Amino acid sequence: MTLRGKRALVTGAATGIGRAIAERLARAGATVTLADIEAEQVEGAAAALRARGAESRALVLDLAATDAVGPAVTAAARAMGGLEILINNAGIAMQKPVLEHEVRDFERIYRVNVLGLFAALKAAALWMIEHRVPGRIVNIASVAGLRGSTGRAAYGSSKAAVINLTQVAAQELAPHGITVNAIAPGPIETDLVRAMHTERTRAGWLREVPMGRYGEPEDVAAAAAYLVSDAAGYVTGHVLAVDGGFASAGLLIPTADLA
Ligand SMILES: NC(=O)c1ccc[n+]([C@@H]2O[C@H](COP(=O)([O-])OP(=O)(O)OC[C@H]3O[C@@H](n4cnc5c(N)ncnc54)[C@H](O)[C@@H]3O)[C@@H](O)[C@H]2O)c1
Repeated sequence: MTLRGKRALVTGAATGIGRAIAERLARAGATVTLADIEAEQVEGAAAALRARGAESRALVLDLAATDAVGPAVTAAARAMGGLEILINNAGIAMQKPVLEHEVRDFERIYRVNVLGLFAALKAAALWMIEHRVPGRIVNIASVAGLRGSTGRAAYGSSKAAVINLTQVAAQELAPHGITVNAIAPGPIETDLVRAMHTERTRAGWLREVPMGRYGEPEDVAAAAAYLVSDAAGYVTGHVLAVDGGFASAGLLIPTADLA
């Protein structure tokens, strides 16, 4: 698969899944702008890609500053000389019982995960339409947006919003040749998870994931690389779970105990 000649913007690309996606797209030949709120880390990540021969830039961007997101996306597209791919990956998480959630928790989570993501999607789509680009947009959701996991009132519902926004945008942008898909990762070994998953949470996931392990950021990056490739030109409005089988699972009795 080659992405030579394509220009991509990846949000939340300083670490974790976003960084792995940026690396994967760059390896396939794309020019990549890595956007993140963490200036030093994102500049380091972009420099590491350049050291490996890729064309890449850093963009310091706070998705919570929603009015600044659209202009920043347009400026990044202009700086790269075009924009064919947007990966809306940046996100923040929270784990607490619904009765302990405050309205301001929802405001904080939704501002980044939904409103900032929407602002980036809209600006990228407008650029692609204006420049007649059959673009690719991939939104990183979560299995928490597909299923009602405990402790995920604000986070899970923000990711459910991302999934529905993906489906709506896919319908409306299809006539312009732009595809919009979502990836719903299960538990992936990143800083976010290391900070949020207690030993008991970890044990719970290992019990519920049929593959019996956490995924790696590269598992998600491989799915994103497919969705932005020419091979996925007829795939839109899809939610691709990269979750070791979690979202498709029902009763999990070891087969040896079935008799
Ligand atoms: N790790 C998992 O198990 C998992 C599972 C499902 C979904 N996801 C989703 O995948 C995405 C990436 O998660 P990750 O695990 O790599 O997390 P991470 O915390 O390792 O990385 C997230 C990146 O986003 C950046 N970021 C945070 N707030 C930002 C803001 N306001 N503006 C710009 N950048 C900001 C962070 O600085 C960081 O570099 C998120 O949307 C997350 O919800 C992760």
